Amino acid sequence: MSFMIITMISVMLPRADVAAERVQEVLATHSSIEDPDPAAQVTREKGEGWRGVVSYNDVTFAYPDSDAPTLEHVSFTAEPGKTTAIIGSTGCGKSTLVQLLPRLYDVTEGSITLDGVDVRSIGLEELRRQIGYVPQKRMLFSGTIESNIKYGDPAMSDDDMRAAAEIAQATEFIDGKPDGYQSPIAQGGSNVSGGQNQRLSIARALAIHPKVLVFDDSFSALDYKTDSVLRAKIAEQASDAAVIIVAQRIATIMHAEEILVLDEGRIVGRGTHEELLRSCPEYLEIAKSQLSPAELGLEEEGGAQASAAGAADEKGGER
Ligand SMILES: Nc1ncnc2c1ncn2[C@@H]1O[C@H](COP(=O)(O)OP(=O)(O)O)[C@@H](O)[C@H]1O
Ligand SMILES: [Mg+2]
Repeated sequence: MSFMIITMISVMLPRADVAAERVQEVLATHSSIEDPDPAAQVTREKGEGWRGVVSYNDVTFAYPDSDAPTLEHVSFTAEPGKTTAIIGSTGCGKSTLVQLLPRLYDVTEGSITLDGVDVRSIGLEELRRQIGYVPQKRMLFSGTIESNIKYGDPAMSDDDMRAAAEIAQATEFIDGKPDGYQSPIAQGGSNVSGGQNQRLSIARALAIHPKVLVFDDSFSALDYKTDSVLRAKIAEQASDAAVIIVAQRIATIMHAEEILVLDEGRIVGRGTHEELLRSCPEYLEIAKSQLSPAELGLEEEGGAQASAAGAADEKGGER
């Protein structure tokens, strides 16, 4: 057997388990997604590495079985070291938007680039190694807490695993279990709470030290305090990653450097929280439905202004 084949088998063996198959199913490889011709692939892994600048360039997308586009003319850039947030009502296309980045689907028109390189020109494995993607739906697999956190790299050290769990605010409940990291996880994570599921999924994404972190509604089952601590830790520990956060809660995204307001597949507003309160009626409507005028900072003259984040963080409970 050639050295090449042995190397390939040893790379693939750890993944040849049920969990890996499930992920392949889910992350599939919809029939239209093809790995670029190896000869034409752009690679940065052996050079200076990827920086993590993500650009959507006039992206329009229609699902294969639908003639109406789900996304239309979406353009934005997510920069390393910054948080880009996406907010909008259920069904407006947020999950669809972020799924295009790791190429669960490909754009219908326009392009998505990583450091200026079309994602369709990057090998799928290399592309997905740069992206820590926490999908909206439960994505834990039967196995243990350890195998779930180490999923992206079974050769990961225990220290790296624990560090990721620490940032994800997951150590308290893991250490509280008699079997710790060896505790069994049922398929779909059905034996842990929604909040624990989200923390483990976040730990898994952080553990591969990606250049881009994508959280699709990943904080919704956490209480406001944990949500806020977790985001602060991510900002601190993954300070050079581009962070993309999809959320329904204003409090989760109000400190983002740029917030995109999505409505029926189009960006109808962009800017900071303060800018959007003034410029985007759709954003103001969402904000008003979730925050009090004091929290919104709309009572500045009266001196009754509370720290918007602080006040918001007090609300809510773990679901
Ligand atoms: N796999 C799919 N095939 C066809 N349509 C889909 C698929 N997934 C989502 N959609 C539709 O695309 C629209 C946007 O959905 P989604 O991106 O999940 O919105 P959001 O995350 O903002 O709630 C919805 O109308 C939804 O029904
Ligand atoms: Mg969604």
